[in-house]
Amino acid sequence: MAPGDLEAVAALARRADPFGWTLRNFQDALASGYPMTVLEEDGAIAGYSVIMVVVDEAELLEIAVDPARQGRGLGRRLLAEAMRRARAEAARVMHLEVRVSNARARKMYHSAGFEEVGRRRNYYPADPSTSGGTGREDAILMRRDFPGV
Ligand SMILES: CC(C)(COP(=O)(O)OP(=O)(O)OC[C@H]1O[C@@H](n2cnc3c(N)ncnc32)[C@H](O)[C@@H]1OP(=O)(O)O)[C@@H](O)C(=O)NCCC(=O)NCCS
Repeated sequence: MAPGDLEAVAALARRADPFGWTLRNFQDALASGYPMTVLEEDGAIAGYSVIMVVVDEAELLEIAVDPARQGRGLGRRLLAEAMRRARAEAARVMHLEVRVSNARARKMYHSAGFEEVGRRRNYYPADPSTSGGTGREDAILMRRDFPGV
């Protein structure tokens, strides 16, 4: 991901997730040197991922595919590339958080070898109409070990 990609990436984030990252979040992450990847299709940005690696632990901070291009394997490819980059930076494990209600992403992570290891209560802001009026939603914590690094 290059500085010139950030406007398009932030616009995609808004389309993919109403609570997703803002342009400022992406600018800060790029300035911090986080490994960030864009996936292009037909000359357009189709998806992106952002990871952070601290010593030997990686965290998947963001991953999204343009809603018009979802369900065709692009998310799986982005996740595989994010894991490849984490391993290239000597990570032995990758952690992530995902909304309880995000069945599609949870399934993608399970197929990529992640397991559910915990739950954070009321971690995310949520639409009150879909969260029993609380305006909050739990996060599922997931991890995948990279054996033999
Ligand atoms: C999660 C997301 C990145 C997946 O991207 P995608 O390109 O649609 O996913 P893929 O086509 O690669 O499918 C990956 C897996 O997701 C699951 N999946 C995909 N579409 C699905 C659907 N309609 N229903 C249920 N599961 C689905 C499947 O397990 C699939 O693997 P399989 O095809 O081997 O069964 C995408 O839906 C997205 O951007 N969502 C909004 C942002 C988001 O939720 N990010 C994750 C935050 S933690």
